[in-house]
Amino acid sequence: MADAADLLDAGEKLGPEELRALQLERLRASLRHAYDNVPFYRESFDKAGIRPEDCRSLADLAHFPFTTKGDLREHYPYGMFAVPRERIRRLHASSGTTGLPTVVGYTENDLSMWADMVARSLRAAGGRPGDTVHVAYGYGLFTGGLGAHYGAERLGCTVIPASGGMTARQVRLIRDLEPGIIMVTPSYMLTLLDEFERQGVDPRSTSLRVGVFGAEPWTEQMRREIEERFAIDAVDIYGLSEVIGPGVAQECVETKDGLHVWEDHFYPEIVDPITGEVLPDGEQGELVFTSLTKEAMPIVRYRTRDLTRLLPGTARAFRRMEKITGRSDDMVILRGVNLFPTQIEEIVLRTPGVAPHFQLRLTREGRLDALTVRAEARPGATPEAREAAALSIAAAVKDGVGVSVDVEIVEAESLERSVGKIRRIMDLRPR
Ligand code: DLL
Repeated sequence: MADAADLLDAGEKLGPEELRALQLERLRASLRHAYDNVPFYRESFDKAGIRPEDCRSLADLAHFPFTTKGDLREHYPYGMFAVPRERIRRLHASSGTTGLPTVVGYTENDLSMWADMVARSLRAAGGRPGDTVHVAYGYGLFTGGLGAHYGAERLGCTVIPASGGMTARQVRLIRDLEPGIIMVTPSYMLTLLDEFERQGVDPRSTSLRVGVFGAEPWTEQMRREIEERFAIDAVDIYGLSEVIGPGVAQECVETKDGLHVWEDHFYPEIVDPITGEVLPDGEQGELVFTSLTKEAMPIVRYRTRDLTRLLPGTARAFRRMEKITGRSDDMVILRGVNLFPTQIEEIVLRTPGVAPHFQLRLTREGRLDALTVRAEARPGATPEAREAAALSIAAAVKDGVGVSVDVEIVEAESLERSVGKIRRIMDLRPR
């Protein structure tokens, strides 16, 4: 097999100077395209007193206004598009759990660039032409299924378009069709794990060698759990519909040290979530993206609400983003302490006697919010083991996060299983 370095595409081979030059050229063109063709950007730039040509260096981007999910909703459905409708080849939409969905569109070139980026991601994950890829991200308006699908085809793989759900059938397909790679949310991978066990099949015995997991936050502890239980390499893929879908950033299998941002197409910044000030690389804050080559829906300084930091490149020259800690929307503020579901995941997954399934229940007692961690017992765990697990989780949260929570160890296989993106927090507080 060719050495991984021989397989890099032209963008991945750019030196740092060349990359910066290309980014600036693309950034200027993209700001111009947005300004000339999307009334929203024209108004927002005008209001900020800035014009596309004022962007003379990459640092100048900081002077341009942000774009938020609210802006996209206000211009639902087509108001953010920069090309005539007949040039749009595909639409996707976000679930819209809180209000209107957001609609995103792609030209033919956008779809091709997206497929290239997912192909690049899969290759970084260890995929090669000729591999068989089982795609269990949902197909449909969600970008996961179709995004993964066309990227895998672009790399020259055989795709099994399983989509999400019908879990028993997923296991059967994996056994019969022998994919080397699976693309799925990490939480649904755990649902598959249960199903393998239910069918009496050793999950370590399959043809799978790599899992490409994303669409929701997951931790190093979860990586260890999945790698161990399935005997595979587990790597992280990141993306969001507003930017393109999956394939904005990807972890390399040889280093597993965070996700390389495909910076030749998506320019990242980290900002202070409160002041919006740009933070230097290495500092934790909110991830913001500007598209550099998108035609149908250029996006300028989009506030992702995802929290992470930027780090220098390793296996690739592009900068890395650390695994996402969480979304600012999912942050629970409990008696003044900030808490993310990922912090609880780390703790639950390293506690003996409990399964890797948990849920967070937020309630209000009087004027104070309270959090209950509901974790599931491993089958056969004794009452003593469950009691010990509850005490150990509560102590670890108190120690590590700095706040007291209630812990309830529930019966094995009693918590609802994920079929796609998992929802960790149940907010039961009165409105
Ligand atoms: O979830 C795209 C995707 C599909 C990515 C499949 C990876 C794999 P949206 O539905 O628009 O798009 O949701 C985007 O999901 O802002 C993050 O909050 C979260 N997210 C996506 N990937 C990761 C990841 C797709 N690897 C939102 N780690 C993003 C943590 C992730 N969070």
